[in-house]
Amino acid sequence: MDTLDFAIAEARRFLGSLDTRPVASRGTPAEMRAPLPAHFPAAGMPAADVVRAIAAAAEPGLTGNAGGRFFAWVKGGALPAALATDIMCSAWDQNAVLASTSPAGAVLEEVAGQFLLEALRLPADASYAFVTGCQMAHATALAAARHAVLARVGWDVERQGLFGAPPIRVLANAHHHGSLTRALRLLGFGTDCIVPLGGDEPGRVSVAALTAALAAAPGAPTIVALNAGDLNIGASDDFARLCPIARAAGAWVHVDGAFGLWANASPRFAPQLAGVDLADSWATDGHKWLNTPYDCGMAITRDPAAHSAAMRMTAAYLTTGGAVRDPMDFTPEWSRRARALPALAALMELGRDGLAAMIERCCDHAVALHDGIAALPGATGLARPVLNQGLVRFDAADGRNISDAVIAAINASGEAFLSGGIWNGERVMRISICGWNTSADDVARTVAAARAALAGLR
Ligand SMILES: Cc1ncc(COP(=O)(O)O)c(C=O)c1O
Repeated sequence: MDTLDFAIAEARRFLGSLDTRPVASRGTPAEMRAPLPAHFPAAGMPAADVVRAIAAAAEPGLTGNAGGRFFAWVKGGALPAALATDIMCSAWDQNAVLASTSPAGAVLEEVAGQFLLEALRLPADASYAFVTGCQMAHATALAAARHAVLARVGWDVERQGLFGAPPIRVLANAHHHGSLTRALRLLGFGTDCIVPLGGDEPGRVSVAALTAALAAAPGAPTIVALNAGDLNIGASDDFARLCPIARAAGAWVHVDGAFGLWANASPRFAPQLAGVDLADSWATDGHKWLNTPYDCGMAITRDPAAHSAAMRMTAAYLTTGGAVRDPMDFTPEWSRRARALPALAALMELGRDGLAAMIERCCDHAVALHDGIAALPGATGLARPVLNQGLVRFDAADGRNISDAVIAAINASGEAFLSGGIWNGERVMRISICGWNTSADDVARTVAAARAALAGLR
């Protein structure tokens, strides 16, 4: 069989097995290494043998996050059109760095960017970049923010750097994700610049906290980092009230909407994000709730000039500046795969109504899964999903917190995959649903797996 035919057949076999294979990988590192040469082979291998060996090596170590019963971290599967487009992208092997290197990569990315802004209901003239994930979306958008807030005090950060620059404060929702912290580290801010903001409502910044923090250093270059969907309970900040206050103080507002920003595509859930379009920049992921394959993050900014000032590069050997946007003017990478194309495929496959329906279906399943598990003896629901994230704690009959043991038992059963965390100082199980193919049957199977795990441990 031809190597490509083999690869497609192998992909089909894997997808077809998702309903019956264990969701968690059960393979050992030794099993994964066994089909591969022990050392870099002196002589090359026939292509057909290579792909067979790699398929055999990967098989025992594959996690079933492409399926319907994977509720750990925040992971969606890949929609059929997005997956198929991704496969074509690999075959086309386009370098979507410039319109001249890949007209198709650049033009289709422009269409994807337009559809993305329409889907998320963000300003039509916003700039965008398709990057590897939300981590790099933060780095990209915060580089634009850094440019803008320092330009306002007469400092050219691209030329003068940060040594000797006026310090920038980052007033961040205390429940910010670690990727925001790392983006600040990569950009040379250091973590000491972060001022964590809280409030009376879990996961949300209060007006009083923001107002007090802004007043503590009037006129200082300031970035305000808010959440559209926090990692644990899916809480979103009150953008309609916070954004005008921050912007009136001259701050740049950045939103971590890794998964939660997609709620703005649903008429039912968009009210939770009211005013999110008032921010200056947004970071989100296609590989989470849009259900593209990895890797697909998106950085979006209200200020295309600041965005391209932070990213633009040139070199004598490049052909730039045509009628079509050059992607690299907005991305931190130079060479890059045409990752906007699977995102375009997902947006077209779903359409406005299908995207809203998928978001709402995931949220309904998250409530059903939380409620089904929380009703089991020994389980306590701690956060009923307001969006697609929920929290449950498990206790033994003697009151010991056995959340981690229950998670491990569910995962070992192969029926579902969940992950833990800490909420209010105690170990909990997180529930996260953003897969297009999760069904009511998947929810029922997972509740049954949790019941069996609890019965074995209490
Ligand atoms: C709220 C939030 N922000 C940022 C990230 C980082 O996203 P990525 O892994 O795509 O870089 C995640 C990942 O789970 C997240 O949940």
